[in-house]
Parts: sequence; structure tokens; C-alpha cells
Amino acid sequence: MNNKLHSMSRRKFLAVSGAIAGTTLVDPKSQILAGNTSAIRQNAAKTKVAVVGLGNRGTGMWGGSVVKDYSNFVEYVGLCDHNPGRLETGSQMIGANCPTYTDFEQMMREVKPEVLIVTTDDNTHDYFIEKGMEMGADIICEKPMAIDEKKIQTIIDAEKRTGKSCRVTFNYRYSPHRAKMWEILRSGEIGDLTSVDFHWYLDTSHGADYFRRWHRLVEKGGSLWVHKASHHFDLLNWWIQSDPESVYALGDLEFYGKNGPFRADNCRSCPHTKECNFYWDITKDQRLKRLYVDNEKYDGYHRDGCVFRNDVNIYDKMAATIKYKNGVQVAYSLTTYSPYEGYRIAFNGTKGRMDAWIQESNPTSDVNYDEIVIAKNFGKREYIQIPQGSGHGGGDKLLKDQVFIPNTPDLLKQAAGVRDGALACLVGIAARKSISTKETVYIKDLTSIKPQEKKA
Ligand SMILES: NC(=O)c1ccc[n+]([C@@H]2O[C@H](COP(=O)([O-])OP(=O)(O)OC[C@H]3O[C@@H](n4cnc5c(N)ncnc54)[C@H](O)[C@@H]3O)[C@@H](O)[C@H]2O)c1
Repeated sequence: MNNKLHSMSRRKFLAVSGAIAGTTLVDPKSQILAGNTSAIRQNAAKTKVAVVGLGNRGTGMWGGSVVKDYSNFVEYVGLCDHNPGRLETGSQMIGANCPTYTDFEQMMREVKPEVLIVTTDDNTHDYFIEKGMEMGADIICEKPMAIDEKKIQTIIDAEKRTGKSCRVTFNYRYSPHRAKMWEILRSGEIGDLTSVDFHWYLDTSHGADYFRRWHRLVEKGGSLWVHKASHHFDLLNWWIQSDPESVYALGDLEFYGKNGPFRADNCRSCPHTKECNFYWDITKDQRLKRLYVDNEKYDGYHRDGCVFRNDVNIYDKMAATIKYKNGVQVAYSLTTYSPYEGYRIAFNGTKGRMDAWIQESNPTSDVNYDEIVIAKNFGKREYIQIPQGSGHGGGDKLLKDQVFIPNTPDLLKQAAGVRDGALACLVGIAARKSISTKETVYIKDLTSIKPQEKKA
């Protein structure tokens, strides 16, 4: 697309979606944006929060930045990780003056948090959600909520039984670019939505990183169908505003793992560093060195694992056809060794089509906005530019504002609970099953959730 050609017909949007920015209901939020946070909470009790899992996400997105930006609203009362070295380093990084634990249940008994943030490996989320609820906390859980249908059912049942809630933090919904797509779909500009083409590309840096870590094992992350694509399936469920009904999928492992020309356990112990395009010196990143390398002695986990290890058992190319209850059909694909990172999406409607794309890590690009193109079947094209933000397209900060600042409205229905968290994972779980059975898998057959034509 030649950006300069169409500059006359473009509309500019502010980084924050108009719907959010135009809202005047929100006292605390407008106060915090004006830097006047101390006035808001003088007499209000802060929410008591504990975190389990002090890796990169637990110390970053849900750690130091929360202490820095939201301490008028929340107070960290306990931190937990089963790696004692990472617990110590992580708690220093977070900077909260609170007790630390390697024993999760001891922490829950002693500090009695109102909210538990779960940022552990994906295969453990269900345990911490269920136990956390049983021990009195509402939950904030990183995606994916759980890696298989049994674990999802456990969470659905725990929520009903305990009366506690679980919020799943789908930060991708909060990027202003994607929020604008949601608004355009709701406005009816392209008529009734009939189909979606959605193709996601992970590059040889970020994509490869999944094959270095625990994510390379299906039993840990549910494969990229769940660990990564649940983000994308959640976006589809949210944009389409209907529930997924059935999935047919294909996938293979043809690049990483056993396909490599040579291998080692990890980059630091590798004799092939000179000829390997994937050689990476983790010790050059001080943060990662402190969190992982310095604490290998406790659990033997290598954050810089070889991408060609024989034990890689996830797919590296994936494609699915997804049918929604309202008749919308989706063609989806995920590639993990692309020269660039990004995606392309097209929404086809009865009156026209909306296209959008992101190409990250492009050194030749000097544009600082993301674009949406609306093409009418019998009319003009419109080009909409959204300024780029940092932290998952600007979404991370907007998500945290909504999570931590009381009474922040949810005008774009971005807040996600157990049902949304489950349906995002269930599409990926169905895809995995479809590949092994070579048959279409129906979402209704996996858990007690019955897909609805119109999303509640
Ligand atoms: N939304 C996003 O964009 C996004 C981005 C990155 C990670 N995540 C999610 O955040 C979670 C954490 O990811 P990460 O990259 O920080 O992983 P990580 O491996 O760096 O951290 C996980 C931490 O959990 C600890 N842990 C594991 N099992 C435990 C147990 N039983 N008891 C106590 N501690 C335990 C590990 O020691 C480690 O410190 C994952 O679920 C991941 O999917 C989400």
C-alpha cells in the first residue's frame, strides 16, 4: 500500500479510542491522568494483592510497573515463586515491601489477599485459579487461562462453587488499532460481517523464542495453538461478537526442533554458535541474566534453550477454518519463522471490507501509525491512521488502568472473564484435536459452555 498516495483522504485518530477518551464518568481515571492520584484515595482502602510467578511477566507488566503507577489503588501483600533465587531477584525488581514465599498455600493463608495475580507457566494456571478462589481471592490471570478442556472445566466449576471471579488479561483487545476495528465493526460501515481472513506472522527472533523456552512443550503451554493463538482467537471472538462453533485444522513441525541441522541443550553450551543463525547470548541482557541464568542452579531451566532440540513437540505452522454460531467463517494461519513480525486481517461484509495489518520489526519503515482501510463495495475507500503506542501496541497500559483504577468504564467490552478466557483457549484446543483426528471438532463437545449466536 502506498501511504503517500492516499494521504488526502485520511482521518487521524488520537491514540486512545474516541469512546474512551470522550468519557466523563470516570473520576479516578481523569484524576490519575491529571497526575492527581493522592487526592483520590486518601480515605479509600487499597486492594490487597498477591502475585504467583515472578518471571518476566510477573515482574514486569504485573510487578514493578504496578508498584510505580498504581500504588494509590493496590498494595502488594505477598509474592510467590517456587524458584527461591528468582523469588528474591523478582521481589527486588518489583520493589514492593512485602513478604515472599516459595510455598503458595502458606502465602494465601498468611497474607489473605483479596486479589491473586497468576503469572506462572500456562499448565499451572488452573491449579492457582482454583486454589486461589477456594482460599478467598478473586483472580487476575494471564492468558491462556488453561491448556486443556479438563482444566478449563475445573475453572468454570470453581468459579460457580466459590462465587469468586477470574479476569483474564487479554491485553491485545486494548491496542487502540484493534479497538478501532471493533468500533467500525459495530458501526455497520461494512454491513453484516460474513467472513474474516486472519494471518499472523512470528519472526525468526520472537517466533524462535517460543522454541527456546518451556513453550516448546505441548504439556507446558498447550502448543502455540493455545499459548499464542488464544490471543488471536480471543480477538476474533470479541470482534465477531459471536461464539466459535467448530474448528477444522492442519499443522506441522517442519522448521524447528528435529528439523534443525545440528543441536545442543542451550546456546551457552553449543559448539555450533558460529554457523547457527539462532545463536543468542542471553548474558548480554542483564534483566534476563538476573532472572534466569543466575537461578538455573535451583531448577535447571535454561531460558536460552536450543530451538533445534529433539524434544520440541509443538507445531511451527498452523492453519484453521473456524465457523461461528452467527455464520461468520474465518480462515486463520500462524507462521513462526517469518522474516518479519506482524499480521494481516480482512473483515468481509455485505457492504464492503475492512483491511488492517501490522508489520513490526521493520527497520526500513519510518511510519509511526497503524492503518485501517475501509473499502465500500460501491463507494470510496477510507484510510484511518492510529498512532502507535508502546507495550503491545499501547494496550498494556490501558488494560492496567481498567484493572486497577476503580470505576473505569468498559465501553468497548474489553474486560474478559472465565467464559471469554475459556472460549479463546477452546478454539486452539479444538484445533489440536482436529489435527490428530483429521475431523471437525465442535466447541460444544469440549466443556459445559454451549456456544451462543450472540455473545453475551
Ligand atoms: N499477555 C501477554 O502478552 C503475555 C506476555 C508474556 C507472558 N504472558 C503470560 O504470562 C505467564 C508467565 O510468562 P513468563 O514469560 O513470565 O514466564 P516465565 O517462565 O518467565 O515465568 C513463570 C514463573 O512462574 C514460576 N512458576 C512456575 N510454576 C510455579 C509453581 N508451581 N509455583 C510457583 N511458581 C511457579 C517460574 O519459576 C517462573 O518464575 C504465562 O502464562 C504467559 O503466557 C502473557
